[in-house]
Amino acid sequence: MELKGLILSGGEGTRLRPITHTSAKQLVPVANKPILFYGLEALRDAGISDIGIIVGDTEEEIRKAVGDGSAWGVRVTYIRQEAPLGLAHAVLTAEEFLGDTPFVMYLGDNLIKEGISAFVEEFRNKEVDALILLAHVAEPQRFGVARLEGNRVVQLVEKPKDPPSDLALVGAYMFRPCILEASRAITPSWRNELEITDAIQYLIDNGYRVEAHIIKGWWKDTGHIEDLLEANRMVLEDIETSIRGRLDEESRVLGRVVVEEGAEVVRSTLRGPCIVGKESRIVDSYIGPFTSIYCGVTVEGSEIEHSIIMENSTIRNMPGRIEDSLIGKNVEIDRSFILPKAFRFMLGDNSRVGLI
Ligand code: G1P
Repeated sequence: MELKGLILSGGEGTRLRPITHTSAKQLVPVANKPILFYGLEALRDAGISDIGIIVGDTEEEIRKAVGDGSAWGVRVTYIRQEAPLGLAHAVLTAEEFLGDTPFVMYLGDNLIKEGISAFVEEFRNKEVDALILLAHVAEPQRFGVARLEGNRVVQLVEKPKDPPSDLALVGAYMFRPCILEASRAITPSWRNELEITDAIQYLIDNGYRVEAHIIKGWWKDTGHIEDLLEANRMVLEDIETSIRGRLDEESRVLGRVVVEEGAEVVRSTLRGPCIVGKESRIVDSYIGPFTSIYCGVTVEGSEIEHSIIMENSTIRNMPGRIEDSLIGKNVEIDRSFILPKAFRFMLGDNSRVGLI
């Protein structure tokens, strides 16, 4: 069966501001790889090579990062969604690209450890109109939630106050073209979005066959900083040591650590799992477990643990350890000895600072 792929990368990422004032949330690096690339790889590994990417205001940045898809051996078509009006709206926006072909829809900010190959394979082997991916979660009210009878899905509710089960909709869905009819039939929800959850409920109510596939491994919707740090932790759990950059004799590496090409580590301790990106410089510092330092970063006289530092940022002379942090691009954090003795900030809208 020929299948197309549709990756949604148009959302505004309001829950990750200020990072998303200027950048796409789907390009935040997890273990030094943009989240979106994990999705592209998952689709490619499932044998899908014709992929549409829904983009919004961050179109240019996403085009620059992904290009025509040839780096993954796939063909990418960009589809502009004028406003983030919901997942079902995104499907309608892609109508021309999708044509009559069944497809997988993948949310660009989701990370699914086991990939989607088994899920896609199950759809190929079944006579169903939609196959949804579910996972048992602790807080179902944060997601779309499904109620099953056997494998069959009988009810779906978006962000229910009183969840009918603990089975959340994970960000990958398999559809036949009837989802277009369903997306046209529904009306916007309380958050003014055309919800894919409602469109799938329409399929159920109109006699279409909707089944579920429950995943066993971990999965993360990286919309919140806590989830992003957790995703980073999960991916770093599986890294293998690889030192391609330079380490001086006074530096120590403990546990599984990646130091990418062009990186330099001087008089510092790296305690894995952690990763130091290309052209980054770590001097007189401690980089602790579950930390991802992206490219071109400078860390001097500082300690960092359980954090993500994005490209070209500089951190110097911190009097305390940085933990549980997400630091954007080109950020400078330094200790100032200028008098009067004071904190001096230049922070974007919705920034968060925790001082001790
Ligand atoms: C969306 C879907 C929801 C699903 C979630 C998975 O939520 O509407 O059903 O469980 O993605 O990541 P949103 O991120 O738009 O709040």
